[in-house]
Amino acid sequence: MQYRRLGHSGLQVSALSLGSWVTYHNQVDTAAAREMLAAAFDAGVNFFDNAEAYAGGKSETVMGDALKALKWPRLNYIVSTKFYWGLDREGQAVNRKDTLNRKYLSQAIDGSLTRFGLDFIDLVYCHRPDPHTPIEETVWAMSDMIDSGKALYWGTSEWSAEAIRAAWEIADRRNLHKPVMEQPQYNLFHRERVEKEYAALYEDIGLGLTTWSPLASGLLTGKYRDGIPADSRAAMAGMGFLVDGLTDAARNAAVVQLDTIAAEIGCSTSQLAIAWAARNPHVSTVITGASRMAQLQENLGASAVLERLTPEVMARIDAISAPIAM
Ligand SMILES: NC(=O)c1ccc[n+]([C@@H]2O[C@H](COP(=O)([O-])OP(=O)(O)OC[C@H]3O[C@@H](n4cnc5c(N)ncnc54)[C@H](OP(=O)(O)O)[C@@H]3O)[C@@H](O)[C@H]2O)c1
Repeated sequence: MQYRRLGHSGLQVSALSLGSWVTYHNQVDTAAAREMLAAAFDAGVNFFDNAEAYAGGKSETVMGDALKALKWPRLNYIVSTKFYWGLDREGQAVNRKDTLNRKYLSQAIDGSLTRFGLDFIDLVYCHRPDPHTPIEETVWAMSDMIDSGKALYWGTSEWSAEAIRAAWEIADRRNLHKPVMEQPQYNLFHRERVEKEYAALYEDIGLGLTTWSPLASGLLTGKYRDGIPADSRAAMAGMGFLVDGLTDAARNAAVVQLDTIAAEIGCSTSQLAIAWAARNPHVSTVITGASRMAQLQENLGASAVLERLTPEVMARIDAISAPIAM
C-alpha cells in the first residue's frame, strides 16, 4: 500500500481507503463491518470514511462498534465524518438541517463522537456548501471544532474551487485552522472538477483530495451492462436516482472496452478503474466502497495495478472515457 500526504498536511493516508455510504447498517452489519475493516487494515488501509447522514447516524454507530471490538491503537487509524444535512429534520429543526451554521456544527460533532464512541474524529468535512451561511461563520466554527480537540483536520466536500479558496483565505487572514482537504466525486466518468476546476488549488493552498465513488457506484465493475442485478445498489430502495446513470448505454459500452484493457494488463475492470483514480498525483486517497468481503478483496487488489498503468495504457483508457466523462 502506498501512503500519501493529505495535501500539504503532515498526515499520511493510504492511497486506498474504505467508506460506509449506503453499505453500513443497510448491507453491512457490525460483524461484517468488523471483518471488512480488519481485512482492509491488514492490506494497509488506514483511513475509514463516514458521515453523520449515512443511514441516519447508524453508519457511525456500526463503524464505532466495530472499531471498539478491533481494539486498534488510536494512532494507527484515521476516521472521518461529515456535516450538513443534520439528523433531526422535522418540526423546529430549521437550524439543524441543510446548514453549516455555527449552532448546528458545534452540536453535530458531539453527536458523532457519541455514536462513534471516540474522543476525537481525525477528519471532519462540510458535506456540501451552504449558500445561506456566510463562509466566515463556517470557517470559524470548523476552526473552533479543531481548537476544542474534538477534530484534527477539516475540509469540504463538493464545494466550488472559488468557495474553497475563499474559506482558506479567511482562515489565513484570521489565523484560523485552514481547510486541508476536499472530498469530490472522481472516476472515469466524472473528472472535470478534479482535473480542471481545482487545478490551481493543489499548489496555491496545498489542497488534498479524498475522492469518492471510484467505480461510479458500481457502473465501472460492468455489473449493470445487462440491466440491474437484484442484489446491487441500483435495486435498493431510495437509490432510484442512480438508475439512469448506471444503465446508460454509452457508459456501459465504454466499460466493455475497458474490459479488454483490464484483461491485457491482468486485472479486473474494477481494479483498473480504482487504480486509474489513485494514479492521479493530486489524489491523496481513493475512498472505495464494498457491500461484501469479496468486493473489498478485489478492490484492494487495485494497489498492485498502479504500476501497470503506463502512459500508453493511460492514453488508451483516456480515449475511451474522456469523450463521455463529465
Ligand atoms: N462526500 C460525498 O458526498 C460522498 C458521496 C458518496 C460517497 N462518498 C464516500 O465514498 C465512499 C465510496 O463511494 P461509493 O460507495 O459510491 O464507491 P464505488 O466504488 O463507486 O461504489 C461502491 C459500490 O459498488 C459495488 N461494488 C464495489 N466493488 C465491487 C466489485 N468489485 N464488484 C461488484 N460490485 C462492486 C458495491 O455496491 P452493490 O454491491 O450494492 O452493488 C459497492 O457498495 C463511500 O462509502 C463514502 O464514504 C462520499
